[in-house]
Amino acid sequence: MDRQSLTNAAARLQLSRIDFFDSIDSTNAFALRLADTGESGPALVAADAQTSGRGRMNRRWITNPGSSLAFSLLIHPAGSQQAKLQLFSALASLAVCRVLNRQLGITAQIKWPNDILINRQKTAGILCEAVWAGESLQAVVIGIGINVTKGSLPVESSLQYPATYLEAHLADSVDRTSLLVNIVSEILTLKDELGIERFMNEYNQMLAFKDEPVRIIMGESVTGGTLVGSDPSGNLILDTGTGLTAIAAGDLHLRPETSTTGVC
Ligand code: BTN
Repeated sequence: MDRQSLTNAAARLQLSRIDFFDSIDSTNAFALRLADTGESGPALVAADAQTSGRGRMNRRWITNPGSSLAFSLLIHPAGSQQAKLQLFSALASLAVCRVLNRQLGITAQIKWPNDILINRQKTAGILCEAVWAGESLQAVVIGIGINVTKGSLPVESSLQYPATYLEAHLADSVDRTSLLVNIVSEILTLKDELGIERFMNEYNQMLAFKDEPVRIIMGESVTGGTLVGSDPSGNLILDTGTGLTAIAAGDLHLRPETSTTGVC
């Protein structure tokens, strides 16, 4: 990672601060600590390695040195965006897909709610965490982990979903610094379009498994149906055969079961 380019980007993107670590517990945890100290943001925290990287549903996220992108962006949603927490994962997913396409020529898809797939294999994960003051949404930390080199893949036995990495789909190595800067720039631009029609249309176009039979598992609850798309709040719409159902959260599994979701 090129620190000077990151510093230059901080000024260009009007970030309040940028912190880069060779190794840290979790960039999301650090960004949440910044939010606690009243950091105005947008603030970027990036690391070459994480020792306690966090995934969704309390899973671990492995970040081996020199192999991945791992970063978190602390932002304070504008008033009109405060009721749209669910859409921040969509925002990050869309930004990652756009940049993978523009910078690297890779066509990626979004596995609802926040995985990025290439050829139906997971290459990136997104973990959004919110900071609340009572009922009011104060800040959002958008954490993104992207598998770049082969060394980013966890050992086979801990993989619960087929995984891949960017360089498996490219002839050249990836410039991680410019990928990071481009994604942050895209998120900051796109956030002003959160949930508007154009945003939702593009998000829906990039959703994986449309028209395929899936199951959404949330704790003990399982909903099966054909994946239709997302509604403007970021809920997944399934056609259950008896009508349309909107689902706010859960893990998406293909049906019949060919895989399960999990770390990586
Ligand atoms: C998932 O797929 O479960 C989400 C993974 C999110 C990982 C990223 S890496 C950067 C940021 N810091 C963390 O501790 N987690 C996120």
